[in-house]
Amino acid sequence: MGRGETIADTARVLSRYVDGIMYRAFKHENVRELARNASVPVINGLDDREHPCQTVSDLFTIQERKAPLDGLKLAYVGDGNNVCNSLLLGSATVGMDMTAACPAGYEPDPELLREARQIAKDRGATIEVAHDPHSAVRGADVIYTDVWVSMGQEREKEEREKIFRPYQVNTKLLDHAKPDAVVMHCLPAHRGLEITDEVMDGPRSIVFDQAENRLHAQKAILARFLAGV
Ligand code: NVA
Repeated sequence: MGRGETIADTARVLSRYVDGIMYRAFKHENVRELARNASVPVINGLDDREHPCQTVSDLFTIQERKAPLDGLKLAYVGDGNNVCNSLLLGSATVGMDMTAACPAGYEPDPELLREARQIAKDRGATIEVAHDPHSAVRGADVIYTDVWVSMGQEREKEEREKIFRPYQVNTKLLDHAKPDAVVMHCLPAHRGLEITDEVMDGPRSIVFDQAENRLHAQKAILARFLAGV
């Protein structure tokens, strides 16, 4: 996208061919540009700022286990990335408290954080950013993590792996959480880095239910936008 012609022209051409577009992009602005110029629905399939379809699916998975969502607490441990950003907006929207524990300099997008806090205020939920993963998971019903190196950040791999080491989701960290807290990861996971085998394959992991629910949630999103259900 954006290589042979402008994104705006691609949007116009694709709109003549298809009923909807799901776009996985590096830049958030490119998704917006496509959406502005398309006459069919454009679904954000992930970009460097947000990962909304993942969050829709994750809220569904949490609801299956721990409904109602309102009043639960989610602790996100790791990089304040696209997944974290969308979870902030999603948690706020459903009235779920969320704390993101991230290293200094790797916090969520400040503008998005303001937006999430505004939404949370109306729903009676709290949105917090912290640096200590142990206190962040205290009292949490859901512990969530994602990769330390997102798409496009491959050159920062070595540095990030050092900085994020204390943010690994392992059994020691889970000792600080509620005994019935569940663990989530949007996948693909880097076992031994952001999450250990023991946790990912352990009794509190709902990672593979979460993976299955991506399928069902994506069907719901298509039904909503393409069939108007
Ligand atoms: N944060 C990750 C999510 C992958 C589905 C990335 O952007 O690479």
